[in-house]
Amino acid sequence: MAKKNKLKYLCNGCGYETSKWLGKCPSCGIFNSLVEIEDETGSLKNINFSETSVPVRLTEINSMSVERVKTGVSEFDALTGGGLVNSSLILIGGSPGIGKSTLMLQILEKLSGKSLYIAGEESPEQIKLRADRVKINNSNIVLVQEIEINKILEICKQHKPDYLIIDSIQTVYNSAINSAPGSIIQVRESTLKIMEYSKKNNIISFIIGHITKTGDFAGPRVLEHMVDTVLYFEGDKSTDFRILRSVKNRFGSTNEIAVFEMTENGLSGISNYANLFFFNRKEKVPGVANSVIIEGSRPILIEIQALVTSAIYGNSRRITRGFNSSRLSVIIAIIEKHCGMSLIDKDVFVNITGGLEVEEPAVDLSVAVAIISSVKNRPLDFKSAFIGELGLTGEVRSVSRVSERFKECKKNGIYNCILSEENCTENNNSSEENVKTFPISNIKEILKYF
Ligand code: TYD
Ligand code: MG
Repeated sequence: MAKKNKLKYLCNGCGYETSKWLGKCPSCGIFNSLVEIEDETGSLKNINFSETSVPVRLTEINSMSVERVKTGVSEFDALTGGGLVNSSLILIGGSPGIGKSTLMLQILEKLSGKSLYIAGEESPEQIKLRADRVKINNSNIVLVQEIEINKILEICKQHKPDYLIIDSIQTVYNSAINSAPGSIIQVRESTLKIMEYSKKNNIISFIIGHITKTGDFAGPRVLEHMVDTVLYFEGDKSTDFRILRSVKNRFGSTNEIAVFEMTENGLSGISNYANLFFFNRKEKVPGVANSVIIEGSRPILIEIQALVTSAIYGNSRRITRGFNSSRLSVIIAIIEKHCGMSLIDKDVFVNITGGLEVEEPAVDLSVAVAIISSVKNRPLDFKSAFIGELGLTGEVRSVSRVSERFKECKKNGIYNCILSEENCTENNNSSEENVKTFPISNIKEILKYF
């Protein structure tokens, strides 16, 4: 008698896995969300992740030289740490229309191996239209419109590609699973099968996934731990600039960014993007403050803009672009408490110019300064940068890698830096006393600059 496959249950809401059916998911609390599927993940054990089965001393293991394939899109190669690594799985995420499929075609253009492009969203004719626009005409690229994962793998077995592209993972489904394409279960199970195939057959796979600006759509996010490299497009479609950030990279450093411009003929890399996010002002404007952030290995000078206006009927709004809105609420609370300002009946808008998404706490001080400047309607010296993290007690904390930040300031004509005392001392200790530093230990001391 044929051995029956074991069953498992996955939650459609959060991907929680259990061997028993439950009425309510213990992880996300949704009722009736568990879907029964055959437990094929056991087949993962067939993947030959490592040939070593006996423990080996670290010192006795030969260093692996990672062979890389250059794609010819130099910004992409630099971002991934030198090119594509064999058998790797790369997730490219971003909001719809940002340029994922365009970048994918440009990457495939110069690769010498066979590429199999699984088009789940568009017909091959539509992709051809895009390829014509980007002037790509490579006979090694083969397109097929298919969304059932088992059929996709069947096509792979016949075609034996060197590169497999799934555009997009949200359209792919497994007919054995009773759940709609794009659900967490379908996305996860399909990726597992692609991963298994890629590792077994030593091919490089690209998975394209849609992700909303707020990251609400859980699909690609649940894949982050499965793939080797995660690249997300940032910025919005209203500008021509596209920022690709490496969020995870098993073969290179993370948090690096590559900047592209969307032109009539596809994406064009911008290698010198330092000045893109900084508006070199000729006069003082209220609500504006500069800061220097470190993105991966590079310092970038940015401008933070804030606008504080009266809220209608006390329904105050806090709206951000490029900055975390919960962090903004914390900064507003710090200003209210320590600078004696009331923002309860005010709308606060904060914008990082150039479409960059900033997470580094070093911008806290400049966000607070821009808000205070807008409230007071008084401009600050436009040749200054504010660098520091804010604590809940209003203290300004020091940040790392200040000498690089100072250099970037000087390069762009910013000669004054306002930052923690500790950071100021670092400047005085450094051989190049580039910029003038002004210590600040608590946010309330900023009021003397207005
Ligand atoms: P696309 O790669 O289809 O986005 P995604 O796959 O992320 O959904 O890019 C779509 C947008 O890019 C579309 O609005 C048109 C624009 N575009 C250009 O401006 N120039 C070009 O050469 C191409 C191919 C697209
Ligand atoms: Mg697309």
